[in-house]
Amino acid sequence: NSVLVHSPATLSNLGCGFDVFGLALAAPYDTIRICRTAEPGVRIQHLDQYRLPTDPAQNVAGVALLALLAEVPEQIGFDVEIIKGIKPGSGVGSSAASAAGAVVGANALLGHRFTKMQLVDFAMAGELVASGARHADNIAPAIFGGFTVVRALEPVLDILALPAPPLWVAVVHPQIEVKTSDSRKVLPATVPLGLAVRQWANVAGLVAGFLTADYDLIGRSMEDYIVEPARLPLIPGLAEARKGALAAGAIGGGISGSGPSVFMLNRTEASAQAVGEAMGSVFAELGIAFNTYVGPV
Ligand code: HSE
Repeated sequence: NSVLVHSPATLSNLGCGFDVFGLALAAPYDTIRICRTAEPGVRIQHLDQYRLPTDPAQNVAGVALLALLAEVPEQIGFDVEIIKGIKPGSGVGSSAASAAGAVVGANALLGHRFTKMQLVDFAMAGELVASGARHADNIAPAIFGGFTVVRALEPVLDILALPAPPLWVAVVHPQIEVKTSDSRKVLPATVPLGLAVRQWANVAGLVAGFLTADYDLIGRSMEDYIVEPARLPLIPGLAEARKGALAAGAIGGGISGSGPSVFMLNRTEASAQAVGEAMGSVFAELGIAFNTYVGPV
């Protein structure tokens, strides 16, 4: 009557695909134990140091489970223990991992009665609490795995799970605070048509690059002309980190989700290591503490 779920960190946006593209990482991950109970409602315990809210109405996993329970006719509830392996606020889908892992676990305890698409919908209720926006670009890869495209949220959720070539990622998390809600406030309300054309050309190129394992095409299609320029001032060192990463052999990259982490895709582990070091040295020079993660997609 209990299951253990490892729910992974995810990269969202992947450059040009704001609120649309997502990619699951092998690590880090949240560990979630969930038990089905006869007592209705949701009880959350956090067995980590982050002091996240445990009131189910304030906790991303709690809100996601309450959304799922609203569709369950039986009088049941869940006891949940969460160990965050993904640091909250780091920009690699920490809230999405907890929300996604909780509903995947609950679904297993309910005989897999919900589809992945429905699970994404439940987990998005958690994302709304965390960031003030209902976006699925971290939830989708956490639940489907691999490379995902959120083609539509309305009128019905439409998510594509696509193949990704072998990739190694380097993520550097500078210890500065960038709240998703704040980094969405700086975004332009309208986009000049010329920029929009360049952006959707890149979106098409990136998808084609993933489908054909064409690393050069992926690299030259990643640039985000719309969102990243607006967020650039929020992350000191970003432009230099990118320059250093490309010189060290990265395929391409940018802000991870809404930041502050910066990610770079690489062909090999050795390249990802070198790229992680190159980016880290930029933040070290600025006197900003940072953590580096290097691992496979
Ligand atoms: N796509 C979202 C954003 C991800 O960039 O704001 C936030 O985690």
